[in-house]
Amino acid sequence: MVLQRADLLSLLDKLTVEEKIGQLIQLAPPFFEGAKSEGDITGPLATMGVTKEDARYAGSALGVAGADEVKAIQDAYLEKSRHKIPLLMMADVVHGYETIFPVPLAIGCSWDLELAKKSAEIAAKEATASGIHVTFAPMVDLVRDPRWGRVMESTGEDPLLNSLYAKAFVKGYQGEDYPESHDHLAACVKHMAAYGAPEGGRDYNTVDMSERQLREYYLPAYKAALDEGCEMVMTAFNTVDGIPATGNKKLMRTLLRDEWGFDGVVISDWGAVKEMIPHGVAADEKEAALKAINAGVDIEMMTACYVNHLTELIESGDISETLLDESVLRILELKNKLGLFEDPYRSATKEKETQTVFSKEHRKVAREQAEKSCVLLKNEEGVLPLEKSSKVAVIGPFAKGKDILGPWSMQGKIENAVPLVEGMQTYFSPDQLVVAEGCGIENGTPEQLEEALHAAKQSDVVVLALGESSDMSGEAGSLADIRLPKVQRELIRKVKELNKELVVVLFNGRPLDLDGVIHEADAILEAWYPGTEGGAAVAALLTGHANPSGRLSMSIPYSVGQIPVYYNSFNTGRPQGAPNAQERYVSQYLDIPNEPLFPFGYGMSYTTFEYRDVALSSTTLTQNEPITVTVKVANTGGVEGEEVVQLYVRDVAGEVIRPVKELKGFEKVTIAPGEEETVEFTIEEKDLRYHHSDLEFSSDNGEFVAYVGSNSRDTKAYPFTLVSSK
Ligand code: BGC
Repeated sequence: MVLQRADLLSLLDKLTVEEKIGQLIQLAPPFFEGAKSEGDITGPLATMGVTKEDARYAGSALGVAGADEVKAIQDAYLEKSRHKIPLLMMADVVHGYETIFPVPLAIGCSWDLELAKKSAEIAAKEATASGIHVTFAPMVDLVRDPRWGRVMESTGEDPLLNSLYAKAFVKGYQGEDYPESHDHLAACVKHMAAYGAPEGGRDYNTVDMSERQLREYYLPAYKAALDEGCEMVMTAFNTVDGIPATGNKKLMRTLLRDEWGFDGVVISDWGAVKEMIPHGVAADEKEAALKAINAGVDIEMMTACYVNHLTELIESGDISETLLDESVLRILELKNKLGLFEDPYRSATKEKETQTVFSKEHRKVAREQAEKSCVLLKNEEGVLPLEKSSKVAVIGPFAKGKDILGPWSMQGKIENAVPLVEGMQTYFSPDQLVVAEGCGIENGTPEQLEEALHAAKQSDVVVLALGESSDMSGEAGSLADIRLPKVQRELIRKVKELNKELVVVLFNGRPLDLDGVIHEADAILEAWYPGTEGGAAVAALLTGHANPSGRLSMSIPYSVGQIPVYYNSFNTGRPQGAPNAQERYVSQYLDIPNEPLFPFGYGMSYTTFEYRDVALSSTTLTQNEPITVTVKVANTGGVEGEEVVQLYVRDVAGEVIRPVKELKGFEKVTIAPGEEETVEFTIEEKDLRYHHSDLEFSSDNGEFVAYVGSNSRDTKAYPFTLVSSK
């Protein structure tokens, strides 16, 4: 490390107030000299109210990529910088840089933390070679509403699983040798907090929940990322208890900094400081700046409330210069930690970039990750894997379609994506494959349909490759109707009339309402947005060259009307199926089941597993003596497969209501046919703690139930008792 803290303090001392405030603004490339898009401050950028002048002292840039461009911007900037303080280069490297991995929701379904870490490691390696210092990842918002387009960015609905992924991603991005290793970068966990719970699933909408609920379910994954050493935190767009997160002092200062002890850099989300005006908690930019800095937001992304008003706020005594200094110091410390004063490019060069990005080795891991992320939802009569000798019609907008990288894959090149047909060509000869588009994603023509039906008629089995275009999910991608677009459902209906074996592969970013698919298809493979190697991975799965092992990390609803639907929900006073439950006056829908179509943890394999001899080491758990749960899992089918063995716990009577099940452990095991593996879980007193009505985090003595099984629905119960917890 080049500078000592004393050096940084003396550097800080030399800065004018204007220069200090400059460190707090972050702008997009068009504001910077040397950028390819320099000066193109039009479109959404024009609405931000920032001028090119503001970039003169800006401390960081976002969305810059490519070693040459980064260098050009950094050089032009440093040349004019009085104190030669380098720019921090940040970008959204969310599921890969140029080698695109499946979207995080898909990675969530792999239940493979090592592989998730590896994907982040590769993303870091490619991004750093291209000049990026900080990634705006991991996104760890807990999600329960598939109408929200950003569920694809999260690993799902469970606080434990999300926390473990949060840690795995941070480990992968920052690495053990961070910050010295220039193959790793700083991670920025987002969006604090509870951005994943907008009312009605509409993006940016109000979030309102009890503090207990927030702490119990929504906060753990952010905390887990920070416990792993995550360098930065991004605020959320939404309100938390009536106050936008970006100006929420209780959340961002009292909780994050004072209670959790986080002393790294906090950045606002894009424009979120100024958005306090339309939110209705700031009368003008000045008040927005005041609220954000008081809340502990160091960097203002893409608006100029700080630049325009902090000087005045200091002069009027509304804030002290010390508050400003604290923020600037945190930013300087991060720059120093990353070694930027020594090497502002952190070893990025065009040559290194060319050698590193999109390498064969990286693509191999992307392929593996994609194979492990797909979830086999249905497979009637063993229609999958496809017979080697079959004549296969591959039909649908995703047969040849390459829109499989998913949102937040900025540097991913769509032309490099492997579409399904290309993957299928590896396993089938040209005369075995017929291909037709059938329709577009949202529109089709009678000619397309006719061609598709003609192709289907010539085949033994039809693979329909369907889904959503990537702009139907992601940020601002909320939908009220989450069924497949009508034209695709119509295609299914028409093909179904031909009475062929029908396989549906779904490429999409959210759990869909499978109306018009679930009864029609003989088999359904949920491929999500599988990334660069998607078509190769899906073809391997369809043909049995790989065995599906993905398990849902977010429930698939029966219909949109039951959303939010999630496994760790609560019983009511009138649960269905309770002894003496009345026929009508129970908590239920009259027209659909309460349960989702496919529950959390669910996914099929080409083999079968049997759970045997589940045993608890004791039925009494004490503070000092954990319980061990052992289970033998046998592969009773004909091929090797991976099973995700899951452990859930229920607290039968708490001080406050407790979920019907909570994931407490899992293990993904590979088992050869005819073989058996023993899986062991430990339940400790601390695993049974929860937030009480006074927010105390502790456990209660009494009855519990452990559940072991292959998903959150199909489990067997094993009661135990907790004694002397306090
Ligand atoms: C998103 C963030 C992202 C930021 C910068 C915002 O619109 O909400 O997730 O990191 O833009 O691109």
